[in-house]
Amino acid sequence: MTDDVLIVHGGTPLQGQIRVRGAKNLVSKAMVAALLGESPSRLFDVPRIRDVEVVSGLLELHGVKVTAGIEEGELVMDPTNVESASTDEINVHAGSSRIPILLCGPLLHRLGHAFIPDLGGCHIGPRPIDFHIKALREFGAVVDKTPEGMHLSAPNGLHGAKLELPYPSVGATEQVLLTAVRAEGVTELRNAAIEPEIMDLICILQKMGAIITVHTDRVIEIQGVPRLYGYEHKPIPDRIEAASWAAAALATRGEIEVVGARQADMMTFLNVFRSIGGELKITDDRVAREGVSGAEGGIKFWHPGGELKAVALETDVHPGFMTDWQQPLVVALTQARGISIMHETVYEQRLGYTEALNQMGATIQVYRDCLGGTPCRFGRRNFMHSAVIAGPSKLHAADLRIPDLRAGFAHLIAALAAEGTSRVYGVDLIKRGYEDFEAKLSALGAHVERP
Ligand code: EPZ
Repeated sequence: MTDDVLIVHGGTPLQGQIRVRGAKNLVSKAMVAALLGESPSRLFDVPRIRDVEVVSGLLELHGVKVTAGIEEGELVMDPTNVESASTDEINVHAGSSRIPILLCGPLLHRLGHAFIPDLGGCHIGPRPIDFHIKALREFGAVVDKTPEGMHLSAPNGLHGAKLELPYPSVGATEQVLLTAVRAEGVTELRNAAIEPEIMDLICILQKMGAIITVHTDRVIEIQGVPRLYGYEHKPIPDRIEAASWAAAALATRGEIEVVGARQADMMTFLNVFRSIGGELKITDDRVAREGVSGAEGGIKFWHPGGELKAVALETDVHPGFMTDWQQPLVVALTQARGISIMHETVYEQRLGYTEALNQMGATIQVYRDCLGGTPCRFGRRNFMHSAVIAGPSKLHAADLRIPDLRAGFAHLIAALAAEGTSRVYGVDLIKRGYEDFEAKLSALGAHVERP
């Protein structure tokens, strides 16, 4: 498909300012939460990305009225008339996103039954849903798996439960929150994920009337309430997109100010960025400096010249280094002097994209062993989950096919950093999570065009 190709003339440092909006991985969950309310919810600063379209479609199928609000980026969701959708209608969304699994609890509360199609999302490993199903069953749901999807019912209602996750999964923690808030009684979740997006979801649920306590040591307690109401909320900014642009600044020896990015959500990334030799400045003070009312702060990232330094890193759950920061940063690490190590401990198959970087001139070797940090769940199993990156390497242009969202953005950065003209195929996948990325690239001075 020719319209799914981007021609990238690389070698120009990216320079300028772009803005990030609400985090993809919060906005989609906030939209699901709206289903639980008895009155309309308003979500602000919603990015125009494919995942938002998919969740809007799913909500609309279930009778939620989704409309644009008065403000640019405002979404109004009215769940007053929630209704069942046919499995055929829902199946249209099969394979397009991981979000449908999170509709289980809210639909069981609202309708007493739910149908969830086969899940999609990025192809970064098997991505099982066993934690979700086990938790739902403990709440009292009856889960019937069929070849077309999953049918759920709750003949005796949903009841609070004592749960412990085998691993602090983001999605399974969200599943428990979205189900427990209206289940009868108290739920205690141990080994919960505590990512900033989860804390923001908890804020939304509290606005709706939920009672949720976050204890120390990954324990979350939820006291079920009989009803919830609509919310008004401005989501946390997208810290994955912000880090992606930061890595692009480093890899292309440029300077990018990411307006809207927030230091508190990105501290681990900022430490790594600085250790590699990148420079950054938190621009929260812009309002005072420029005296511009409404001016928004952010973070400015730049390459100070000279050589970048190698680093040993491993991805982890929050507050560790995010798995979604890994791929764009590895592109920047191909430009660092020495041997860098990236040990991926969240997903077992998230290094496949390095093959394309090697074709472009990078020197990256992947290993089954746990390198550069604590042994993880994937050690001594058949997963290539550690990468050794030797640099600096001169990258040259290539024809690339985008494998998944974050790896796709990493490929794009590599093409922008490389000398010559690359063709990046499957580039529309990037629209799943990066709003207006082509316009942003042009604003930063990149030479990109559609054929
Ligand atoms: C969320 O995925 C994000 N997606 C991912 O971002 C992100 O990489 C991930 O969290 C980790 O931060 C959304 O928010 C939509 P997990 P999620 O459950 O919730 C295993 C992006 O590019 N696991 O925390 O699906 C799983 O296989 C995407 O924006 C089970 O074994 O991730 C993985 O190894 C990609 N059984 C680990 O837990 C389960 O039932 C963490 O996954 C559930 C998860």
